[in-house]
Amino acid sequence: MDNNISKCLPINGTDYVEFYVGNAKQAAHYYQSAFGFQPVAYAGLETGLTDRVSYVLRQNKITFVLTGTLTPDSEVAKHHIKHGDGVKVIALWVDDAQKAFEETTARGADVDFEPKSYSDEDGEVVLASIKTYGDTVHTFVERKNYNGSFLPGFMEWNPNYRPTETGLTYVDHIVGNVGWDEMNNTVDYYKDVMGFEQLISFDDKDISTEFTALRSKVMANDNMRIKFPINEPAKGLKRSQVEEYLDFYVGAGPQHVALTTDDIVSTIASLRERGVDFLHVPDEYYENISDRVGNIDEDLKILKKHNILIDRDDKGYLLQLFSKPVEDRPTFFFEIIQRKDAISFGKGNFQALFESIELEQHSRGTL
Ligand code: FE2
Repeated sequence: MDNNISKCLPINGTDYVEFYVGNAKQAAHYYQSAFGFQPVAYAGLETGLTDRVSYVLRQNKITFVLTGTLTPDSEVAKHHIKHGDGVKVIALWVDDAQKAFEETTARGADVDFEPKSYSDEDGEVVLASIKTYGDTVHTFVERKNYNGSFLPGFMEWNPNYRPTETGLTYVDHIVGNVGWDEMNNTVDYYKDVMGFEQLISFDDKDISTEFTALRSKVMANDNMRIKFPINEPAKGLKRSQVEEYLDFYVGAGPQHVALTTDDIVSTIASLRERGVDFLHVPDEYYENISDRVGNIDEDLKILKKHNILIDRDDKGYLLQLFSKPVEDRPTFFFEIIQRKDAISFGKGNFQALFESIELEQHSRGTL
């Protein structure tokens, strides 16, 4: 790849993921009670906002912002009417937001908002934002001169209600679903505008069942802290999960956020106990699993009991599981992943998953 391009946009990691939701107060409670996120900050009428309210939650290196509207005609309201609950902002932590903005817009990124500095008693933050697929945006966050817990303009949110964490540690990757034949344009955007590189490619023969199919390419930045698989639907006999997403989200958008854990068995057990629903994995999945994945540290019986999926690549293996959609529409969901040196995304599991997802679609009448 062209190193000049990749070096023009150094990214330290995912800064935060912001969801636009129908009821931020109740969504915040769900992320506390079900996922064990800890309360960090709040903004709303009390901090001088008039059109929206935001709750900031954190678990280790994962920061989520849940934003709801206070008026019927705000940007948040319009987004929510169209898309339902979903990810609006994938914020990227950079050392120089002005430069990140200039470099990407010079190479063709559409502007969401121009660089702007915000400060309070904890220091200064510079934010700038560009558009990506659908109505999703990438906000560059420069916080090297800031010591506050989130951003200027937010106040401390310190409720008594604090369920324990569930062992989630950081954002591993964020998958985008784009429309028919839009995958390559989106991949080119990440290559040409952001300086990302393609990691692995699946074609529709890799990920399909008798009825449905998808194509996927994975884009990553040079230090691999940002990984964005991009899916598009492929022709099948019936409506695929990506088509179902596009229909219900009304366009392209983030499909899932993968969160890592150092102990997937305890994390999944805890999430299930707190009411998070996961995709069902058929018993047959585990029948010949040893032939496919070889020796692993974990007890297969325990993995089977918790319905945890296993896949291997040439670097190691990974353990993963996918939640059911976490909002009313069958759109966005979470992946929980533990990497044991594998750098891939569970290609060997896609077949088993597709069949499980089709069962879910069948129950919704959307296959
Ligand atoms: Fe994933």
